[in-house]
Amino acid sequence: MRLLAIGAAVLSFASTTLCAEKGNLTKPLASRLILPSTFKPPQNFKNVNLVHIINLEKSYPKEQINVVIENIAGTPQDEYFIPFTSQQMATIGGLEVKDKKNLDRGLFEVRAVEFDPESDTQFYRVRLAQPLAPKAQITLGITYSYLSALHPLPKHIGQQESQFLVYEFSAYCPSAYVTLKQKTEVKFPSGNVPEYTIVPGGEVESPVKAGSKFTYGSFGEVPVGAVEPVKVRYEFTKPLIHVSRLERDIEVSHWGGNVAFEERYTLHNHAANLTNQFSRVQWAAQQYYNPSSTAIKELKFPLKVGSLDPYFTDVIGNVSTSRFRSNKREANLEIKPRYPVFGGWNYPFRVGWNADLKKFLRKLSTGQGYVLNVPFLEGPKQPEGMEYEHIELRVILPEGAKNVKYSTAVPLTSEAISLHRTFMDTTGRTALTLKAINIVDDFRDRELIVTYDYPLLAGLRKPLVIFVTVFGLFAAAWAIGSINVGIKGKK
Ligand SMILES: *[C@@H]1O[C@H](CO)[C@@H](O)[C@H](O)[C@H]1NC(C)=O
Ligand SMILES: *[C@@H]1O[C@H](CO)[C@@H](O)[C@H](O)[C@H]1NC(C)=O
Ligand SMILES: *[C@@H]1O[C@H](CO)[C@@H](O)[C@H](O)[C@H]1NC(C)=O
Repeated sequence: MRLLAIGAAVLSFASTTLCAEKGNLTKPLASRLILPSTFKPPQNFKNVNLVHIINLEKSYPKEQINVVIENIAGTPQDEYFIPFTSQQMATIGGLEVKDKKNLDRGLFEVRAVEFDPESDTQFYRVRLAQPLAPKAQITLGITYSYLSALHPLPKHIGQQESQFLVYEFSAYCPSAYVTLKQKTEVKFPSGNVPEYTIVPGGEVESPVKAGSKFTYGSFGEVPVGAVEPVKVRYEFTKPLIHVSRLERDIEVSHWGGNVAFEERYTLHNHAANLTNQFSRVQWAAQQYYNPSSTAIKELKFPLKVGSLDPYFTDVIGNVSTSRFRSNKREANLEIKPRYPVFGGWNYPFRVGWNADLKKFLRKLSTGQGYVLNVPFLEGPKQPEGMEYEHIELRVILPEGAKNVKYSTAVPLTSEAISLHRTFMDTTGRTALTLKAINIVDDFRDRELIVTYDYPLLAGLRKPLVIFVTVFGLFAAAWAIGSINVGIKGKK
């Protein structure tokens, strides 16, 4: 009873002193709740059954935890905590939690919680849509990815050699609660897994192998925070495409009926470095067989149908080795860097294209409101996947756009509305800047919806400015002309 009272006191203290802090790029998380440093997740739940799935088929690990949780407290509860190490916390991306048995309920609110920045255990707090009654159960589906989490071993390979990656995890899913039963499944890109940790078990030894799928467990009851380190090394002869920064501009022009896209990439290949110097002769000879390679040879952008006038430039200038196929069904931009981008190499570049504004913008039937619907991310779609560390998306609206609001299912770290001045602008154009971190290409095609008001008068501003300017020039020319005439007359 006393314990409960203290717990309640701590909780109420926590909830009154919770201060949401806006994070930014230097702090990897969108918003953190600061809890007292004595904080420990209250033991209100137990994990009845848990399945942890680690998917290593792409160039970043994608994980899913499906867990049946039960409220073991005496009162309804709605806060479930998931622990991560500080390293995981800095590289985790796209954490989403839903009710596995009731998918149309949407996503639960999740927030990073900070109680002691020095501690190696950090938490995400999940808020259930409705408090769970005592003894009741719910199945959570938790998904997330980690960036920069796969490491080539050996670190250097030859131009034609296979690459092997190392990934480390725990065979017991880290949890803030007691787990009664669980297993961890690992999906590899192929069955070529030369090294893996063996976990001795009761009846059977882990892992149990079935082709390219390994299963650790199932395991019986494990206490809070239990870990069982596992290391696997597997073949993955593909690039590890890492975008340290993507700047994506979307410029809306009502007057021109156009929307212009431009994307600036700072791209790296995190694959194994070459042991020897790159040999173009060997590369050319090999290409005939199209072998799998850790080099980035091509990037494919499936753009929205109707996209046109694409361009592709790098530090040297226009790159002509790009292909654009556009018809009624598709608009595929395929770009080839000037050289194959091997492990340890960088390739900064820029692509852009135009599209008909009508395809993205709708005017509301009443008032002066407009709705813009664009993909948040439109980057390359690669079979090996790619990861984005920082994304800065700028939507530049016409001059005079007001009342800007947006919504997106991509987790953001910051938002800002500012003025952007260009040629012949009077007040400047309204720009919405959104930032996100640790996003993987699974989030490609998630929508960004921007609504704004654009009064008719604002639409007339640009032609008016041009008219006044031209008229002014004309008048000035006329005035100068008449002065000249005046001088002539004096002769
Ligand atoms: C991030 O926040 C810190 C302190 O709050 C500040 O010094 C820094 O300039 C910010 N960085 C950005 C990119 O906003
Ligand atoms: C690059 O190519 C585009 C069209 O392909 C062309 O309009 C532009 O002038 C070129 N720029 C340079 C610097 O060559
Ligand atoms: C790989 O090459 C890059 C660029 O040359 C270098 O910065 C990096 O340290 C190298 N990595 C290893 C493991 O040698």
